[in-house]
Amino acid sequence: MSEKLIGLITGASSGLGAEFCRQLSDRCRKMILVGRRHDKLQGVADELKAAGVETVVVCADLATPLGLTEVVEKIRQQGPVQVLVNNAGFGTLGAFVDTDFDSQQAMVDLHISATLRLCRAVIPYMKDAGGGSIINLSSLASFFPMRDVAVYAASKVFLNSFSESLQKEVAADNIRVQCLCPGYTHTDFHDRDSFSGFEKSAVPEAMWMSSEAVVSESLAMLDGAGEVVFVAGEQNRAMIAG
Ligand SMILES: NC(=O)c1ccc[n+]([C@@H]2O[C@H](COP(=O)([O-])OP(=O)(O)OC[C@H]3O[C@@H](n4cnc5c(N)ncnc54)[C@H](OP(=O)(O)O)[C@@H]3O)[C@@H](O)[C@H]2O)c1
Repeated sequence: MSEKLIGLITGASSGLGAEFCRQLSDRCRKMILVGRRHDKLQGVADELKAAGVETVVVCADLATPLGLTEVVEKIRQQGPVQVLVNNAGFGTLGAFVDTDFDSQQAMVDLHISATLRLCRAVIPYMKDAGGGSIINLSSLASFFPMRDVAVYAASKVFLNSFSESLQKEVAADNIRVQCLCPGYTHTDFHDRDSFSGFEKSAVPEAMWMSSEAVVSESLAMLDGAGEVVFVAGEQNRAMIAG
């Protein structure tokens, strides 16, 4: 990625999204931050402003058509976006048939529909600008069919496949696509109400990563033009290989 671009990060209010904002701040002159919790978004925006980055905070629910339309309009007004991180996401815990269907649908709308819509909105601008970078947040869960996270894992499998195909379509336009698959990462993810009942302490400490480490691996791999579907963490890559 070249210097001083315009970036858009969804789910910028906490965890991996907030960390992407921090680690992309030296490459971006302006960053558009999207999420629903205004106070948290503003906190991240204040950090970026202190680092000399212009910020645009967009409070929007990306699982809704209205929220998506607002963000697409912001792209038109505040772009051209050359760095897009489709990071917003959440999980639910429980058997598919026992879990509130509206939450499952919202997950599909957020992970899949919002990612597609935002990719579709920015790629023409990236082509005009001579290049760009897109990071779609998948998960290690996309490699392992698991009970209690059926829709979550399937939505991330979609992103792996979509990102690989998209990369083939836009490579000639100097647009780099990465589908980042983190394993267990310390963020707000496992503390959300939708994921209640998850026993964090049951996961060995060696399996956890910090959001700083995941994001720094992701950006290093993006700069090095590594594989499209990228699994963060040596321990996670070993698990996939095994
Ligand atoms: N943590 C892990 O172990 C892990 C592992 C693999 C993959 N991931 C993926 O990493 C991504 C980031 O999650 P995280 O771990 O950083 O968790 P997090 O701290 O809970 O962050 C999730 C972000 O998504 C935003 N978000 C959720 N629903 C939204 C909606 N409807 N509209 C707009 N924004 C929404 C949240 O913002 P608001 O609440 O302010 O709306 C928040 O900024 C997700 O896609 C997740 O699937 C996480």
